[in-house]
Amino acid sequence: MMWKDSYRLGVERIDNQHMELFHMTENLVNAVENGASVEVYQEILGFLKDYVIYHFKDEEAYQASIHYSGLEDHRKEHQQFTQTVLNYEKLLTENGFNNKTMKDLAGVVTTWLIYHVTDSDQKIVSQEENSSKEKFFDRYVDLFSSSVLDVMWTMAALDPGNAQVCVSSPSELQGELFVKIQLMGDLKGDAVFGFSKGLALNLLQSMTGMELTELDELVQSALCELTNISCGNAATALTQRGLCCDISTPVVCQDFVCQVDGASVHINTDSGCLSISILGELPQ
Ligand SMILES: [Fe+2]
Repeated sequence: MMWKDSYRLGVERIDNQHMELFHMTENLVNAVENGASVEVYQEILGFLKDYVIYHFKDEEAYQASIHYSGLEDHRKEHQQFTQTVLNYEKLLTENGFNNKTMKDLAGVVTTWLIYHVTDSDQKIVSQEENSSKEKFFDRYVDLFSSSVLDVMWTMAALDPGNAQVCVSSPSELQGELFVKIQLMGDLKGDAVFGFSKGLALNLLQSMTGMELTELDELVQSALCELTNISCGNAATALTQRGLCCDISTPVVCQDFVCQVDGASVHINTDSGCLSISILGELPQ
């Protein structure tokens, strides 16, 4: 039997698919060694191709759901192998299903599969084990801060290239105007944005062309909307990565309860400062 228990990743769905792939490869090896009919070769190759495509898609979705940093490189490995199988299929279709080419294919599939499952695929789970709570939150706060910088750049021509982002503590969130948005779904908690008065007024001046001096209702409402758009973009990005995330209507808050789990960044720009905290519960 080709499959070995040491090939397991510990993710049941993926392990079962790998087992099935090894089973198919074993059938392929048996067929080429015993010299099967063209019909049998066609059937095995058809199953293998379809299953490879289905499995790679599923495995990549899993990697996205755990925010695996090596997803893009891993996807390329999958694409190259899929292309190899498709090239063999073309060759066999054009030149006839012969034992020699089928043996070449069986050798390539066997070696690639074992190497890929024991090396590349194992890296997916080793990263997952190393992901601490902190790292999860760090990734979220990065996502929310890049979203808000993008929006400020688009709406107020505030250059994100000049922004300095430093990690800070949720208990030291700074600002003169705080906007809080509730996160719902897999990521439960609050995203809190602390705007310095300077940044708030500069943003509004850039957006309206008017010189404002107070953090009045107009400023508050505009920054709530800016936060709403930014968090909406971040939530969409999270959903694309396989995490269900929804947001509430933003509210201006004077103070907020600092929870134990969370991450914060402090962003210095030429126009003023912004602190961002993501506080709450980890996705299950
Ligand atoms: Fe893989």
